[in-house]
Amino acid sequence: MKTNFKIAVLPGDGIGPEVVAESIKILGAISEAFHYQFDFKYGLAGADAIFKTGNPLPDETLEICKESDAVLFGAIGDPSFDNNPDAKVRPEQGLLKLRKELGLFANIRPLKTYSSLIDKSPLKREIVEGTDIQIFRELVSGIYFGEKFTDEEAGYAYDICKYNRDEIAPIVHMAFQEAQKRRKKLTLIDKANVLDTSRLWRKVCKEIATEYTDVELDFMFVDNAAMQLILNPKQFDVIVTENMFGDIISDEASVIGGSIGLLPSASIGNENAMFEPIHGSYPQAKGKGIANPIASILSTVMMLDYLKLDHAAEKLRASVEYAIENKYVTVDLNSEQPYSTSEVGSFIADYIKYSEKTYYNFENVKIGKSTIV
Ligand code: IPM
Ligand code: MG
Repeated sequence: MKTNFKIAVLPGDGIGPEVVAESIKILGAISEAFHYQFDFKYGLAGADAIFKTGNPLPDETLEICKESDAVLFGAIGDPSFDNNPDAKVRPEQGLLKLRKELGLFANIRPLKTYSSLIDKSPLKREIVEGTDIQIFRELVSGIYFGEKFTDEEAGYAYDICKYNRDEIAPIVHMAFQEAQKRRKKLTLIDKANVLDTSRLWRKVCKEIATEYTDVELDFMFVDNAAMQLILNPKQFDVIVTENMFGDIISDEASVIGGSIGLLPSASIGNENAMFEPIHGSYPQAKGKGIANPIASILSTVMMLDYLKLDHAAEKLRASVEYAIENKYVTVDLNSEQPYSTSEVGSFIADYIKYSEKTYYNFENVKIGKSTIV
């Protein structure tokens, strides 16, 4: 069994470096507890890379990623670009290029709810409780990557949305297979009443459905889906959708559970995979030690799953759940007794290493006592 792994680490901008540092700390604890070796190679990406090299994705970074078993990504984005529509080079271009170059066609965004956090949700408890959705977003095609054009003088611009069968089928298969392992319901979100690309998605989905007869396939227009997600999120099991609808729907879904700071994602290709929190670079929080590291840590769980380190993944998942259920969390989730980004990471790392040792009493953490008894 493989025990050595090359991990490319791209901390990026804003709170990216802080939250990724906690994931690295935790991988340290995993190596200790399970005797794996992770070799980390760092690369520049995003605004940080633009400031240092002029390029949001230097070739060297791409090489490091291609040679890795998995990529851990922080966040990118910087206000100096957001407020400047004329900027020729933008941090986001680095992320899009990385997705394309690594062929990361499937972006998986799970949404789970934690009972201790439901009161943080903007929705009512009875609507939210029990929500468990997996969103499969196509990531390397559609309007994001179609031809673009701007004629400044004429005040004219366009972005083309294109799909072909070969870009749709692989992610649809993945989504069906995931539904088979879960509640056996797959919903395609589209705009088939208006868009040709959506009609193609429906056709391909219907054809592929004949190979997965145990899964119920549903279709929903994206405008209705935006409404249904907050009216009755529990009706969804696995969702599959094209690039831009997936971008929008997954941000909407991310607040259902109480904090965007909890949601991880995996971007999977045939040869590469990248793991990153859904949240952005949150520049206002940079350096303050208040960023929630859990989305990055849960992205690390998805990475361990992908690397087939099942026991480590299970242990880390349970450790995160323990931290959340015991309110050992950052200020977004616990304003009365908040813990810092690195305290949360250290707690989870310690839990991995010591929770099965009898001299360590994690119950004491809740009442602010020392954990060593
Ligand atoms: C996301 C982000 C990106 C996207 C941006 C930063 C380009 O919003 O990963 O959802 O639109 O895909
Ligand atoms: Mg987005």
